Amino acid sequence: MDLFEYQARDLFAKHDVPVLAGEVIDTPEAAREITERLGGKSVVKAQVKVGGRGKAGGVKLAATPDEAVARATDILGMDIKGHTVHKVMIAETAPEILEEYYVSFLLDRANRTFLSIASVEGGMEIEEVAATRPEAVAKIAIDAIDGVDEAKAREIVEAAKFPAEVADKVANVLVKLWDTFIKSDALLVEVNPLAKVASGEVIALDGKVSLDDNAEFRHDWDELHDKAAANPLEAAAKEKGLNYVKLDGEVGIIGNGAGLVMSTLDVVAYAGEKHGGVKPANFLDIGGGASAQVMANGLEIILGDPDVKSVFVNVFGGITACDEVANGIVQALKLLEDRGEKVEKPLVVRLDGNNAELGRKILTDANHPLVQRVDTMDGAADKAAELAAAK
Ligand SMILES: Nc1ncnc2c1ncn2[C@@H]1O[C@H](COP(=O)(O)OP(=O)(O)O)[C@@H](O)[C@H]1O
Ligand SMILES: [Mg+2]
Repeated sequence: MDLFEYQARDLFAKHDVPVLAGEVIDTPEAAREITERLGGKSVVKAQVKVGGRGKAGGVKLAATPDEAVARATDILGMDIKGHTVHKVMIAETAPEILEEYYVSFLLDRANRTFLSIASVEGGMEIEEVAATRPEAVAKIAIDAIDGVDEAKAREIVEAAKFPAEVADKVANVLVKLWDTFIKSDALLVEVNPLAKVASGEVIALDGKVSLDDNAEFRHDWDELHDKAAANPLEAAAKEKGLNYVKLDGEVGIIGNGAGLVMSTLDVVAYAGEKHGGVKPANFLDIGGGASAQVMANGLEIILGDPDVKSVFVNVFGGITACDEVANGIVQALKLLEDRGEKVEKPLVVRLDGNNAELGRKILTDANHPLVQRVDTMDGAADKAAELAAAK
């Protein structure tokens, strides 16, 4: 999960990384009172989960409370690289900025370690610097067990050639930032710019943090979720404990096991080419124990997607045998109909594996008008694509 800048700022503050005051708002008028409290001037910053806000006009200085309201009016609703600005942060204005540095910690998957990236040439041109003069960007591997202590922080400071007068302060920030990284189970913490201001202090003026979703059970991250941005179908699926990802096609997909579902997406996309280019509408893995309830939950989500024109249920019976799955499908359809849901999209079911014969018989006997049995994966994908194209 990626955080907004204001959330990263709060996290930094909690771990004693030096930051400036800031408050997030979603109406322009609220900028006035905050700017007054900040001493009459402020910086209005678009809160979108994408970099380059400054260059896109999403970071503006305001010299008066009135100007802050005006800038907030400009920025709220703005589109930055496809992200609509719903919130702005009204931040304290940094004292005169003398230099802008770049520091980050991240997980380096390829090298199975953590990595620190640091440069004294931070700021809005960092991508350009990294591309044209890689020697200006230091990369130091960090041992997961040893982490970043004072000595390791010094090593980073030296490798990136930070000026002597800020060495202590930057090293101190690096230790605090590492603390943030580890204690938050982050995959990335990035500060750009880490600014040297007139007083000689170094302050994190921007923050990017990505948290490891697999560690959520160890934390209280409810507040951090961006509910407004979540796809409503994905949110509903998550509530039901389903592994669901919305895609942009027309063929709803249900399968058991992530690998089977992944290959089902491929097969449907391939079959769809012959049928006007229809594509999979989602990823949904109902997992091993596909009870009628789980099947009903899955079908409900998929049938509730207005983009879905047909559904392909692709099951390979294993520990949960095909007869159980077949009963699950029949009961699920009944459950939905009893609940008053209108089930009118055609279902193509392919059952194979453990107890396939029995499962197929159960479907044939149930003789549901919307359910068609096709016993090969390719054949079923083709049928589902054809039905979606015909709608
Ligand atoms: N609170 C602040 N006070 C003064 N200048 C700021 C402040 N925050 C950001 N800036 C300036 O605006 C630039 C861009 O802001 P930043 O938060 O880094 O956004 P982005 O990286 O998305 O462009 C910074 O490099 C810095 O020069
Ligand atoms: Mg930045």
